[in-house]
Amino acid sequence: MDKKRIAVFASGNGSNFEAIAKACAEGKIDAEVVLCVTDRPGAYVTKRAEKFGVPMIEFRPKDFASKADFETMLLGHLRENKVDLICLAGYMRIIGDVLLGAYEGRIINIHPSLLPAFQGADAIGQALNYGVKVFGVTVHYVDHTLDGGKIISQVAIPYEGSDREELEPLVHAQEHILYPATVQNILKKL
Ligand code: GRF
Repeated sequence: MDKKRIAVFASGNGSNFEAIAKACAEGKIDAEVVLCVTDRPGAYVTKRAEKFGVPMIEFRPKDFASKADFETMLLGHLRENKVDLICLAGYMRIIGDVLLGAYEGRIINIHPSLLPAFQGADAIGQALNYGVKVFGVTVHYVDHTLDGGKIISQVAIPYEGSDREELEPLVHAQEHILYPATVQNILKKL
């Protein structure tokens, strides 16, 4: 059987893109990353994509009249590349009707909290401000809501301190384990 084909959407650093691309290259995910999409041309993820030889689509949302317009452009690339699964990895936009309609149940996201707690931006900061003692990471299906789709997998990270610089690497390290493992698990359901 042909390998499943993944597109990763990212707006920034791209460490989760790299975790997925690396797991594919090492055979830990039985799929191929065929496309990397960014809404921030020049973001660091573009360097990582180059390293892995993954073609980039870079676009500026403000060059389009609407979300539907740029998602239609993206959908063309996704179809052309026969993409089976979209993995959002630090993509700082809500997915709209065009992509949701075409890829329902085949768009997933990673979020650095134990959802449904601390949705939205700076989840780690929100949790630190709250003084939580168990942090975490969630992978979930994407729907019209912000970080609100059905949960697929989670990992808890007990941490009693308040030092963001100490906590953040712990969270990201867990993301880089959980996301590839979850992708591999759901591939068979596609
Ligand atoms: C991660 O913390 C992810 O959970 C969140 O955005 C961050 C992206 O990091 N959605 P990176 O760009 O993959 O390094």
